[in-house]
Amino acid sequence: MSDKNRVYVFDTTLRDGEQVPGCQLTTVEKITIAKELEALGVDVIEAGFPISSPGDFQSVVEISKAVSEPVICALTRANTMDIDAAAEALRFAKRKRIHTGIGSSDMHIKYKFNSTREEILKRAADAVKYARKFVDDVEFYAEDAGRADNAYLAQMIEAVIAAGATVVNIPDTNGYCLPEQYGAKIKYLVDHVSNIDKAIISVHCHNDLGMATANSIAGVINGARQVECTINGIGERAGNTSLEEVAMILKTHHSLGYHTGIQSKKLYQLSNMVETMMRMPVQPNKAIIGRNAFAHSSGIHQDGVLKHRENYEILNPEDVGIESNAIILTARSGRHALKHHLERLGYKLDKVNLDEIYQRFLVMADSKKEISDADLLELMGNGNDQN
Ligand code: KIV
Ligand code: ZN
Repeated sequence: MSDKNRVYVFDTTLRDGEQVPGCQLTTVEKITIAKELEALGVDVIEAGFPISSPGDFQSVVEISKAVSEPVICALTRANTMDIDAAAEALRFAKRKRIHTGIGSSDMHIKYKFNSTREEILKRAADAVKYARKFVDDVEFYAEDAGRADNAYLAQMIEAVIAAGATVVNIPDTNGYCLPEQYGAKIKYLVDHVSNIDKAIISVHCHNDLGMATANSIAGVINGARQVECTINGIGERAGNTSLEEVAMILKTHHSLGYHTGIQSKKLYQLSNMVETMMRMPVQPNKAIIGRNAFAHSSGIHQDGVLKHRENYEILNPEDVGIESNAIILTARSGRHALKHHLERLGYKLDKVNLDEIYQRFLVMADSKKEISDADLLELMGNGNDQN
């Protein structure tokens, strides 16, 4: 696999993810998650926004000491005080990056900064130049790029690369874009920014319309080589691009040629850790790591999966660290699933016996959401053959 197709994974669980009300972590918890992110193989850990609070500052310091492989990144706004704080917080990091930026849409320029395109362009380039005094690796974010005018955005990106940005982040801050639009935006930058080959393009998408992952992948297909994401897709409002989705999409569609450094078998365990520490339950039908992601409950699907797993599974649960799929017994289950579970419990039934048990199973299942092993044992306790 060629390196031009290596997609860098930038995890912002501890910064954008942690901004969610109720998800705040202690420094010790952040260090624990950061170490697991390192083991998972992420390339960059955004450890915090140092100027925002003494706690955030200290977390960046401690994560910088505890983690050695990934780049440690600290967020700033486009001003010298923020950048000074980030540089100071990153002082122990072996590999460090300052992530600075400013709004790029006319909406932000007018109503957030009460400024002009020209003035914002200058502030953007000045911030990058200032950050380069402290570190060699400076990422610039063009906030609300999803709604920004492409020609102006291209001008801004060209200016910040000329000022020394090594990575240019094109956030769809409000989760506004369609995948086609977002992909076209990235392509526009590839085609119109004269010095774009001097920087890596990064995608940072939010999920307000449920398209964060689709937009991120569209960005990669059109030339981005860094994806910013969070474990479980945690983040402000409807969340950020979900790391596990991006990793498994690129792995499943390997024919596209992209690859990451993610050790996918560690995904489930880290998802559980983040869910518990951040007190943010994962929805059961969440792609890749939700409780139902590999659970089959309808008779037709159960029969199909028992005949050949890939009839109804495009991913192997073991690849994301889940031991096995689950055949859930409900009133919608068929004889095949019932037989499978009874055999697992040591019962072998001929067709006649199975038909008879199946009728009694249906009566029981109609009164319960799910049939457990204890229920099955009770069912078989009524005078049936056991091997
Ligand atoms: O969504 C966004 O625009 C951000 C930036 C600060 C990178 O989180
Ligand atoms: Zn964001």
